[in-house]
Amino acid sequence: MGVNKRVAAIKPNAIRAFDDETSGIEGVLKLTLGEPDFTVPEHVKKAAIASIEADESHYAPAAGSVALRKAIHHFMLDRYGLSYDIDSEIIVTLGATEGIYDTFTAFINEGDKVLLPAPNFSMYDPTIELAGGEIVFVDTSDTGFLLTPEQLQAAIDEYGEKLTTVLLNYPANPTGVTYTAEQLSALADVLQGTNITVIADEIYSELTYNAPHTSIAKFLPEQTVILNGVSKSHAMTGYRIGFIVGPKQLVQPAAVLHQFTVTAASNPAMAGAAEALGSAQGKLDSKSMREAYRERRDYLVPALRKLGFEIPQPNGAFYVFAKIPAAYEQDDYAFSVDLAKRGKVAVIPGSVFNVGGEGYIRISYAASLDSLHEAVKRISNFLENY
Ligand SMILES: Cc1ncc(COP(=O)(O)O)c(C=O)c1O
Repeated sequence: MGVNKRVAAIKPNAIRAFDDETSGIEGVLKLTLGEPDFTVPEHVKKAAIASIEADESHYAPAAGSVALRKAIHHFMLDRYGLSYDIDSEIIVTLGATEGIYDTFTAFINEGDKVLLPAPNFSMYDPTIELAGGEIVFVDTSDTGFLLTPEQLQAAIDEYGEKLTTVLLNYPANPTGVTYTAEQLSALADVLQGTNITVIADEIYSELTYNAPHTSIAKFLPEQTVILNGVSKSHAMTGYRIGFIVGPKQLVQPAAVLHQFTVTAASNPAMAGAAEALGSAQGKLDSKSMREAYRERRDYLVPALRKLGFEIPQPNGAFYVFAKIPAAYEQDDYAFSVDLAKRGKVAVIPGSVFNVGGEGYIRISYAASLDSLHEAVKRISNFLENY
């Protein structure tokens, strides 16, 4: 059959597969997906409805509506002190997912090495492989789940000019760990003067709990494209609105991919996103969601540590990456299946996220505090009867 060999080699999304496998278990409490449990703010919904009622039913500009690009410009400047030109340095995508596809496909040549700190979000590896890139995994489980300047330098020394692209995701899925400004500055020092492009997936940038988010673009503006969007900041996953920002010479090649795959995002969804990112109320929406996630994290992390799980401090996103206590089953897949079937709590086995994830489970706390209380009770009972 005439299937492209790179497509044929791709395995199905393991997070979805595990979620499907455990969803049928009666009474199971699901802490599997990275899906905010909040509803979309009313003023955002109204903006989307107004767009439909105003008959905004034609193709939008490929780069996205002017209103949304203006809102993205405002958002990046107001929150992170970064300024991008509305006409040439901002592309509206269908979620950060499309941004991942556009940028990897635009930047990677056959046989290029792409550095991927792991454990990592499972969307990256298939997309890199589809583009013909070769992944260089860097196991960060011994360095607090952060890429260190030494690890980065070692990869540059080993692969030289073949290493063309580095992916950084912070706050991170699956660990919730994020970089400080000093840590990003140290990574930027290593990258400065190389031909390496950084793809910074900052989709969780609005959800940081200890310090405001800083982008590596602050220190490495000419070599960085940022992927972001409203999926996590405003609980708008289903609207499918993300964006790519960066210097023109990096954003425009990605824009070509965007034009030939999706043409443009949908007008009502963009109108909602413009309201979310451009209005004062939209800033408050993210703040109140952030406070709710923080409260959940502050309950969940100590409660799980008390049960014997080792947890790298999650200062962002809404995940806890917990090391299964030594006294229990170390195969994270078997442990997770058992926890779902007998303990009635579904989580994601850490090995799904590649090297460094073995022996861990990812727990999403995009769930109500009541659900988290119940989950801790169930996990505690499960461990006692193990
Ligand atoms: C790190 C990371 N990047 C990108 C995405 C996808 O975001 P979107 O829904 O905007 O496509 C997710 C979703 O879980 C994610 O965790």
